[in-house]
Amino acid sequence: MITEPVKGFSKWSKQAKIEWLINHYTSNADAALEMLQGYWHHDEKIQKLHDEFIENTITNFYMPFGIAPNFLINGKMYTMPLAIEESSVVAAAAKAANFWLERGGFKTKIISTTKIGHVHFIWNGENHQLLHHFFNKIKPLFFEHTAVITRNMVLRGGGILDIVLRDKTDLEPGYFQLEATFETCDSMGANFINSCLEEFAKTLREEAWKYEEFADESKEIQVVMSILSNYTPQCLVRAEVACKLEDINEGSGIGNEEFAEKFCRAIRIAEIEPYRAVTHNKGIMNGVDSVVIATGNDFRAIEACVHAYAARTGKYKSLTHAEVVDGEFRFSIELPLALGTVGGITSLHPMVKFSHEILGHPGAGELMQIVAAAGLAQNFSAVRSLITSGIQKGHMKMHLLNILNQLEATEEEKSQIVEYFKHHVVTFSETVKVFCKIRGISEESLARKTK
Ligand code: MEV
Repeated sequence: MITEPVKGFSKWSKQAKIEWLINHYTSNADAALEMLQGYWHHDEKIQKLHDEFIENTITNFYMPFGIAPNFLINGKMYTMPLAIEESSVVAAAAKAANFWLERGGFKTKIISTTKIGHVHFIWNGENHQLLHHFFNKIKPLFFEHTAVITRNMVLRGGGILDIVLRDKTDLEPGYFQLEATFETCDSMGANFINSCLEEFAKTLREEAWKYEEFADESKEIQVVMSILSNYTPQCLVRAEVACKLEDINEGSGIGNEEFAEKFCRAIRIAEIEPYRAVTHNKGIMNGVDSVVIATGNDFRAIEACVHAYAARTGKYKSLTHAEVVDGEFRFSIELPLALGTVGGITSLHPMVKFSHEILGHPGAGELMQIVAAAGLAQNFSAVRSLITSGIQKGHMKMHLLNILNQLEATEEEKSQIVEYFKHHVVTFSETVKVFCKIRGISEESLARKTK
C-alpha cells in the first residue's frame, strides 16, 4: 500500500499505470499482470476501442451475456440479450417468456417520449412579472441560437418542444429555472440536450444585460448549472400480460384462484410496504438493467429515474400492478425509460452492436417496449416463485455451479454433485457436505484450506 499521491497519472502509459498498480497494491505482481492481460482482447483494435471508452483503462471487466428466447411482444418474437452476473435472472426471464408465449405474449405501448432539462439560475430582481416579460420577449432567441445544434434532430422529427420559465423562489431565494422539453428520437439525447441548455444559458445571461426594463442591479443572471434531468416521467412505456384465470397456474401445486389471490396480494404488499417494494422493484430491475446494459444504455440513469418514479406519490411503491377482472388475470408495469438506439457506444461496442442486431435493430421506442417486457417478465417469475415454491429452490439450483467453482470442484465432481441435487434441495452447507464426501476430505480440513 502506498500513501504518497501520484502526479499526472492520467498522462502515464497503460503499461506504467499497470506496473504502478500491481507493484503497490498486489501481493503477487506477476500473477496480477497475467490476470489483467488475460482479460485483454486478442484483437488490438477492439482492445483499443475499450481502452478509449473511459480513462485509465488497464483491462476489461467481463460480465456474462445470456439470452432468453421466446419473448412474444405485440405479436413479434424476440430473443432477449441480457448482460448480468446474477444467477437465475436469465432462467427466470426465459421461463416467463415461455409462460406468456402460450397466453398471447406481452402487449406494450409507448405513452410518451418527452425528455427534460433545466438551466438553474438565480435572479435577485424584485418584480417577478418583469422576469416573465423578459423571458417571453427573448424566448424565440433560444430556438434561433440553437438552430445549428438542433438542425439534424429536427430533420429526424425531434428537437426542442418547449421552454418555460419556472419560479422556484418559494424553495430558494432568487431561484428560477428555464425548463425545456425535448424529443430526441432514437438517441438518448444527453449530449444534444446539454448542448442546447448551455446555449440557452448563454442567451439568457447576455440578453439580460441588454434588457432595458431591468434596473442595473437586476441585469445580472447567475447561471448555476445547465443540465438534463434523468428524471423522465414523461418518457413512459407500459407493458402488460393477461390470461383467463383458469390458465394462470400450471403445475405449481395450488389452484388458479388461490394463485391469483396470492399473486395480487403480493403485489399489493409491494404497493403499501416500502421494505418489500424495494426488493420487488429490484427484481424488476434485474430484467431491465440486463437488457439496458446489453444494449449499451446508461443503467445508472435508468435506475435513478425508475426509483424516483416509484416514489412519485411521496411513498415508494411497486412498479407493477395486478388484478383479476371478469375472470381475467391482468399484470402490468409502467416504466420511465429514456433509452437510445443510436449514439453513445451503440455503434462502437461489438457486443452492444450484436444485441441490437439480434433484437432486429429496434428504434428507441421499440427498445423501451422490449425492456419493459423484460422487467415485467422478471417480476412475474420472481413473484410466482415467492408465492409457491419460495425463491431459494430455483435460485440455489442456478447458483450451484458458482458454489462448486468456489470450492474448485473438478468437472467430474461437478457432474456428480449436480446429479445429486436433482433430487435434493441445494444449500451451501449441503453442497459442502456432499463435495467433501466425494473428494474424501473432512469439512474441517476444507474450512482450514479456504480460510
Ligand atoms: C433477487 O435478485 C430478486 C428478488 O428478490 C426479487 C423479489 O423478491 O421480488 C427475487
